[in-house]
Amino acid sequence: MFNVISNEIIAENLHKMVVSAPRIAHARKPGQFVMVRLDQGEERIPLTISDADSAAGTITLFIQAVGASTRNIVATPAGGFIRDVAGPLGKGTRIINWGRVVCIGGGVGTAVLFPMVKALAEAGNQVTTIIGGRSGNFILLAAELTPLSDTFLVTTEDGSLGTKGFVTAPLADILADPARIPRAVFAVGPVPMMKAVAEMTRPQGIETIVSLNPIMIDGTGMCGGCRVQIGAETKFACVDGPEFDAHQVDFDGLSDRLTSYHTEEAGMHAAAECKIGRNVSV
Ligand code: NAD
Ligand code: FES
Repeated sequence: MFNVISNEIIAENLHKMVVSAPRIAHARKPGQFVMVRLDQGEERIPLTISDADSAAGTITLFIQAVGASTRNIVATPAGGFIRDVAGPLGKGTRIINWGRVVCIGGGVGTAVLFPMVKALAEAGNQVTTIIGGRSGNFILLAAELTPLSDTFLVTTEDGSLGTKGFVTAPLADILADPARIPRAVFAVGPVPMMKAVAEMTRPQGIETIVSLNPIMIDGTGMCGGCRVQIGAETKFACVDGPEFDAHQVDFDGLSDRLTSYHTEEAGMHAAAECKIGRNVSV
């Protein structure tokens, strides 16, 4: 059993939960995730480990309440317990000193981006962070990301905060300026956003890394649910990823797989019995 230390709402349907998990807190690397199961018979949910405090023995998870299982998890108050937290799983982010990097977070993907930005900043990179959302209410972790970033930019689709438009607009400005060309770009968010970023950096051959969120069931490479096409190879996001070279990712195939269970998920969520885990992790 894993003790919930704190649980706070940080945006609409989005919770920040700190959970006692000393072994995971000690072993985890940025980019890794855990499989969380609230109780016996419940769905397993993959959640990115957004932060960890090895001295306190805690991990921080951002959880978007999008279905019955995630709603049940976020309903667990501080002092409550989660039955299973398995991990750390997946490969960590490759953190080196690239020099100049751009990190892009779309919507709730920003919470997955956060540990990457932190690790890249700690490795001495000059980090430009761009985060975007539909409106100011959907901008996450601005206060936490600002001190880690040499340049911090916000976009909103309605113009209520930062620059009006998509995250890709400031990226286009950066890519057009020879003095600001990054050595690497990291992007986490909706599939169309990651695909757009990949197409923008491809002509200049800028290394671009995306974190993928396919459907996951076991999280250990056994079920094949999370398979993604990377170049000529089929990979499992849970053991081979979740981060991949964006220029090799079949984003259209990923989109198809993400939408193929929508009807079933809607029905199962209604019955509160969904057994399919999507990486709602944020
Ligand atoms: P959203 O649809 O509100 O988009 C957030 C921002 O992404 C937009 O404001 C825009 O700046 C950018 N964006 C979206 N579409 C774009 C496009 N076509 N071109 C350029 N930029 C674009 O996002 P949301 O509702 O907060 O996030 C939900 C999505 O994020 C879901 O699809 C979810 O699966 C995905 N997600 C991905 C990960 C991951 O690990 N990759 C993690 C969590 C959530
Ligand atoms: Fe089953 Fe990855 S979730 S193989």
